[in-house]
Amino acid sequence: MSDRAANAKAFVAQNQEPVVFDGVVAKYGNGHIALSGISCKFQHGTSTALVGANGSGKTTLLRMMCGLAQPYQGTITPDPSKKTIALVAQQHGQRSWMPLTVANVLRMSRFRDRGLVKRFSAADRILIEESAERLEVANLKNRQFQELSGGQRQRVMVAQALAHDADVLLMDEPITGLDIPSQEAILRIVDEERQRGRIVVISTHHMDEAELCDQVLLLANRMVAAGTPGEVLTNKNLQEAFGLRMAHGDEEDCVFHGEHDSHEGGVVHVFNDHGHGHDHGHGHDHFDC
Ligand SMILES: Nc1ncnc2c1ncn2[C@@H]1O[C@H](COP(=O)(O)OP(=O)(O)OP(=O)(O)O)[C@@H](O)[C@H]1O
Ligand SMILES: [Mg+2]
Repeated sequence: MSDRAANAKAFVAQNQEPVVFDGVVAKYGNGHIALSGISCKFQHGTSTALVGANGSGKTTLLRMMCGLAQPYQGTITPDPSKKTIALVAQQHGQRSWMPLTVANVLRMSRFRDRGLVKRFSAADRILIEESAERLEVANLKNRQFQELSGGQRQRVMVAQALAHDADVLLMDEPITGLDIPSQEAILRIVDEERQRGRIVVISTHHMDEAELCDQVLLLANRMVAAGTPGEVLTNKNLQEAFGLRMAHGDEEDCVFHGEHDSHEGGVVHVFNDHGHGHDHGHGHDHFDC
């Protein structure tokens, strides 16, 4: 980390109140219940991993946390409008029509505090430069955002979120599609931002990423388990969440994989490559025997 990044460690969130979900139900306009009975707490200075199969409600929970979706039932306190929240969304393709340089995308992070017309202060510039350095995107700043590769865009979006300097940092599958050094950089950032006093929440399909967090919420359109990684990431819970046989842990605890990866009834190993892929032959860090 640069001296500048180290100096910035002095962050203390203005509002240290934890975010509490109490009996939250999420229902989409088509009547689909994406989540029900969600009760959990997110403390400042801690990191949380949301784990669950595709469609289990991870993105929906993050959307509710930042106020993009309202609970159908239950409460979220404090109201998301009472905190500053930065969200790195799951997909960045929808921004590809915008003729913006990377520098512009990063500058957008400061508009909330600075407005569109006020001059950027030295502090704004330091925040942007430090974030760009930490994600190794400083060398891309004159490039068109729409011309970047998927992994480069992802790193720019994480840098933008960091430069928000928000109380709450939400990242939806932040390491999906990234090369190994970039994945490691993001994992370091999760840890550093938590140490700075933020609430950090990520969704992930990678057990090794989830295991580094203070808290894991295992979702299957409801809360299957919540607690420390050791408490939550057990074979029994994973099988309950995925409705499938899954292997996790040492050999004694191990369950073999089958041939097919269907979300409906077969056997799937979702944690073995980048994001939504379902690789059958290799790279099963924690789940193969
Ligand atoms: N805009 C929407 N309208 C209706 N239903 C939706 C909408 N967005 C999501 N859903 C449904 O809500 C459920 C939860 O979706 P969500 O995107 O939160 O899952 P996820 O855990 O993030 O999945 P993934 O791992 O694929 O990203 C799914 O059944 C999904 O089909
Ligand atoms: Mg999602």
